[in-house]
Amino acid sequence: TTVEWAAESYDLGGHDTYMHKEIAEQPEAVDRVLRGRIDDRFATVHLGGLGLDAREARAVRRVKILGCGSAYYSGQIGAQLIEELARIPADAEPASEFRYRNPVVDPDALYIAVSQSGETYDTLAAVQELKRKGAKVLGVVNVVGSAIARETDGGMYVHAGPEVCVVSTKCFTNTAVAFALLALYLGRVRDLSVADGRRIVDGLRRLPEQIQQVLDGEAAIAEAAREFASARSAMFVGRVRGYPVAREAAQKLKEVSYVHAEAYPASELKHGPLALIEPEVPTVAVVPDDELLEKNRATLEEIKARKGRIVAVAHREQERADRTIVVPKNEPELDPVLMGVPLQLLAYHTALELGRDIDKPRNLAKSVTVE
Ligand code: G6P
Repeated sequence: TTVEWAAESYDLGGHDTYMHKEIAEQPEAVDRVLRGRIDDRFATVHLGGLGLDAREARAVRRVKILGCGSAYYSGQIGAQLIEELARIPADAEPASEFRYRNPVVDPDALYIAVSQSGETYDTLAAVQELKRKGAKVLGVVNVVGSAIARETDGGMYVHAGPEVCVVSTKCFTNTAVAFALLALYLGRVRDLSVADGRRIVDGLRRLPEQIQQVLDGEAAIAEAAREFASARSAMFVGRVRGYPVAREAAQKLKEVSYVHAEAYPASELKHGPLALIEPEVPTVAVVPDDELLEKNRATLEEIKARKGRIVAVAHREQERADRTIVVPKNEPELDPVLMGVPLQLLAYHTALELGRDIDKPRNLAKSVTVE
């Protein structure tokens, strides 16, 4: 493994934990994943490491993204971005499931392994199995020169810088942004218009400043966290773009605070988990101002009718919610990037309130290099 990060990047720099430091570093981290890649003239990006020229990129019929934990959830965001911007069928799957179910390997598909460390054994084993069957596999990886970076045919580094806290924050966000770049590239060699390409490029450039705006709202999020510290369990719901955000946020809360949390597509609530809703089980609802806003508002009504308490992450105040964390608006496709950030702070403050060992949660390891 090549170590290219400077020693001073391991300094806590006045933060109480690496998790807090790494959350705070996101504006610069996102700036780094964008740097040198945007092509304004053609409203696209250059991703030299992909090793996928325009002809090959156009030949991709399907995209399958593999990863574990937070990497898997960021892959779900990536799959949605690729479908939306490039109109290529795409989905994400836990790497471990994939490797044990004797998957059909499609020679016209592009496989992408996602990993912060680049060393997760299940993800690496999936890569090796795919390569053995002749598939093309790219890596979306943070650690330069790591095993997955070496074994894939090409890929992108997410340039989040070293992530010390066991739970992923800045790397998750940067990976989602890296997928937006890949989706933009795949879209622009296909049918994504210049105007739409430009819209996404401009949106990407606004991200660092908007993430900073979200971080500036930390005090209100810390207040919201009190309720979660005393909750029996928490529900996280979102629709389509909001769903992977909900999944990652629930995972984060579980990992660092040990408060039980479940994530559901908002539309599935009425098919089961609504039975759990009561005042002691608060819900976090991801409610972007998009074409699903009215549907999401109906979900808030359903929860309210069962006396559930609601924290909404939204672009404007939600009347039905007990509390709204307002995040700045970007382009709808990029909503997952911004909407995840306040929920990292929610998990952090809940864990802080409960006195947890935030950087080293019990039973977890930063990278699981065994089977
Ligand atoms: C471990 C960590 C998770 C992480 C996952 C994947 O389980 O506890 O936080 O998301 O591994 O790690 P990777 O390095 O492959 O992204």
